Amino acid sequence: MDKLVVHGGSPLEGPLTVGGSKNTALPLMAAALLADGSTRITNVPNLRDVRTFSNVIRVAGPAVTFDADANTLTIDASTVNHPVAPYELVKKMRASFYMLGALIGRCGEAKVSLPGGCAWGPRPVDLHIEGMKAFGADIELEEGYVLASAPGGRLDGGTFRLDPSSVGATINLLLGAVTAQGPSRIENAAQEPDVVAFGEALKEMGAQIDGLGTNTIEIQGVDALTPASFRNTPDRIELGTFMLMAATAGAPGQPVEVRRGTHEHLGDDFKERFAETGVDVDYADEVVTVTRPETLQPVSIETAPYPGFPTDLQAQWTVLLGLADGTATVTDTIYDDRFKHVPELQRLGMEISVEGNTATVHGGAPIKGAQVMSTDLRASVSLVMAGMVAEGTTHVLRVYHLDRGYEHLEHKLQDAGINIHREEYEEFDEPAAEPVS
Ligand code: UD1
Repeated sequence: MDKLVVHGGSPLEGPLTVGGSKNTALPLMAAALLADGSTRITNVPNLRDVRTFSNVIRVAGPAVTFDADANTLTIDASTVNHPVAPYELVKKMRASFYMLGALIGRCGEAKVSLPGGCAWGPRPVDLHIEGMKAFGADIELEEGYVLASAPGGRLDGGTFRLDPSSVGATINLLLGAVTAQGPSRIENAAQEPDVVAFGEALKEMGAQIDGLGTNTIEIQGVDALTPASFRNTPDRIELGTFMLMAATAGAPGQPVEVRRGTHEHLGDDFKERFAETGVDVDYADEVVTVTRPETLQPVSIETAPYPGFPTDLQAQWTVLLGLADGTATVTDTIYDDRFKHVPELQRLGMEISVEGNTATVHGGAPIKGAQVMSTDLRASVSLVMAGMVAEGTTHVLRVYHLDRGYEHLEHKLQDAGINIHREEYEEFDEPAAEPVS
């Protein structure tokens, strides 16, 4: 297994460059299944999740080729003859469940494994299933699989209200509805930039969709979609992560550039809270420049759907609060139990307590290197961040979690002044079943 070894104390000088979005690439890949032909997607990050989803798609019949050096992925979906997403693959990554909408949309039927649990708690898929039913699918659950079919080969379309709003369910329902026989309406739809970029791509393929980026999306089904070429959007969570790294590991007064991100996709809440910490931040077209102040202010955050504070940045924010001058809280209103990084950060010396869905961080406790365990994707990057500012050496174990969502992170950080490298190690305990997230 691999670990990352971080020798703390060298300042992050930058620049850091943001890659393509994982959470947009995956639905774009699913969209390709709706067109009889070849779809090309550029700016696709070379990540474990992208390779996993490529394998999920191959099972259904299409040919997927990934030129990882050129970050270009081609999906030839001329043949989709096995509408199945097996447990062995779906358990590795929840987003494989997008195959439900993609396969119903293309073939009128699907057999997709239920994803099962996740490191952050139950994470149900009830809304995906109920929504498909509302759009006319017959659904049965059998031996851990969802068996879905559209009577007559195409969904009818319908109206469904998401409660709570869900990124994944919005994407799945869009995939199913764009080729339905009639109109559909998704209420309380997700407004995340990932959903908007995906919806725009569907429109380029010929889908008729109104209301992207608002909480009501209306779809008029069309007979079929046509293949297209897309450029994937920059990863907004990687951008936010790099900005937080600059705010914590940059030398005070020394600007750090984060390049090629789309700062508008961060949402206003993150930007406002970030400014309140006292950092100096300049947003230009494709460059965000962050200058760390002498003293970081403790600023509490509460996660919420877009444009609220992203849950995928709360673990990284917790590290910033560990360096701040005072006490502040991190409340996750989307996932109650997304605090697996906290005991690991405590091992590094941070003073944090968790009650319910709120972590309280007392900033200023000395952070010292230790061995720590990654438990999920964003937790693992928060441990690297803490290692960058720790005294001594931090070993971040089970880095395969991080590899799901950050492309060449250690190379990017090395080039930006951080003393970090990857090592293989032997783990004597059997790792628990891989959590899917
Ligand atoms: C996506 C992101 C993930 C991010 C999350 C929230 C991808 C691949 N993953 O996950 O990184 O943390 O959005 O921004 O894009 N819910 C239900 N029933 C359902 C579906 C969801 O109750 O059927 C609940 C969830 O438990 C959660 C909330 O809805 O409390 C939002 O989850 P959702 O937006 O669906 O997250 P994902 O799409 O799985």
